Amino acid sequence: MARFWVCLAGAGIFLACVVLHEHFYGSGVLMNFAFQVSWRTEKLLYRLDLDWPHYSEYFTGTTFCVAVDSVNGLVYVAQRGDNIPKVLVFTEDGYFLRAWNYTVDTPHGMFAASTPYEQSVWITDVGSGSYGHTVKKYNSVGDLVQVLGTAGKKGTGLNPLQFDNPAELYVEDTGDIYIVDGDGGLNNRLIKLSQDFMILWLHGENGTGPAKFNIPHSVTLDSAGRVWVADRGNKRIQVFDKDTGEWLGAWSSCFTEEGPSSVRFTPDRKYLVVAQLNLSRLLVLAGPPVGSIGDCSVVSTIQLADQVLPHLLEVDQKTGAIYVAEIGAKQVQKFVPFSGYIAAFST
Ligand SMILES: *[C@@H]1O[C@H](CO)[C@@H](O)[C@H](O)[C@H]1NC(C)=O
Ligand SMILES: *[C@@H]1O[C@H](CO)[C@@H](O)[C@H](O)[C@H]1NC(C)=O
Ligand SMILES: *[C@@H]1O[C@H](CO)[C@@H](O)[C@H](O)[C@H]1NC(C)=O
Repeated sequence: MARFWVCLAGAGIFLACVVLHEHFYGSGVLMNFAFQVSWRTEKLLYRLDLDWPHYSEYFTGTTFCVAVDSVNGLVYVAQRGDNIPKVLVFTEDGYFLRAWNYTVDTPHGMFAASTPYEQSVWITDVGSGSYGHTVKKYNSVGDLVQVLGTAGKKGTGLNPLQFDNPAELYVEDTGDIYIVDGDGGLNNRLIKLSQDFMILWLHGENGTGPAKFNIPHSVTLDSAGRVWVADRGNKRIQVFDKDTGEWLGAWSSCFTEEGPSSVRFTPDRKYLVVAQLNLSRLLVLAGPPVGSIGDCSVVSTIQLADQVLPHLLEVDQKTGAIYVAEIGAKQVQKFVPFSGYIAAFST
């Protein structure tokens, strides 16, 4: 399988990015100024781990998503294709452990939710077959333990709960679940469920206004009790209070070229890592302050090769490593923080 070189942001990319900017935007003085300031402050934060996984031959389909169980050092990858294993389990140091495809139709997003007592992975399934339009929980060896939604029937209903192209989910330690539904289907909504799967609140409308969505594609939480949603079609990230669902604001100035596909915080909450699919680019944004979220700012970029297409990513909440599921390159790549960054972590 081909490996793709990445252009890491550093002193060298400053010039390259300015040239790009001139190309796309002409020579508006104000824009030039804004770009130069943001690129000049870029930091080199991550390097590609060419050794993960040890054998990339396991990627036999289109790799749509990745999840990390940092408690147990496991990395789950889900891929699409015919007559292949759909879920692959690796160790975080790159060894393949096992695979399954039973009851998995067309995986889109995933989340590993582990406690000291239970290893599990949740998968959103956008298939139109008998396991599709659902959000499913598996144990670590692939036994199906929970199905949310009405299997095989897409819809907009809440009782019983139905999904159409559920994109991703985030599960809190308490068991509360946040689901974004979805990826271009009938629904454009964010739903919070309790640990016993009752709806606690939801935002359920299409549109461009506050708390409305156009392809809510990825969801995560920060440590200040806020829910961050990649509202991809609206080229913004929207932020909500996790307890009340109240709309707290949006970040959009970093996404004028393309909306965010994936959102994940680093373990120290210093950065928010975002994927831009068609640009084949990862943005490392400054983590938000507590209180007013202000506006976003790009700290660093990781430019992948053209057509790599990073779809969803995950950040290991112990080591800070970023795993990127690439639907163009059909592989998952791992980026590790430079040691300086790790040192910064532990102080
Ligand atoms: C499930 O995966 C196995 C290989 O692990 C493959 O032989 C089989 O065809 C797959 N089944 C489906 C329905 O994709
Ligand atoms: C929601 O968005 C979809 C896709 O953009 C559109 O087809 C549909 O008409 C919208 N529904 C409403 C209620 O605006
Ligand atoms: C990426 O490009 C494809 C093909 O042009 C388009 O259908 C899709 O909407 C784009 N996705 C994003 C996130 O811009």
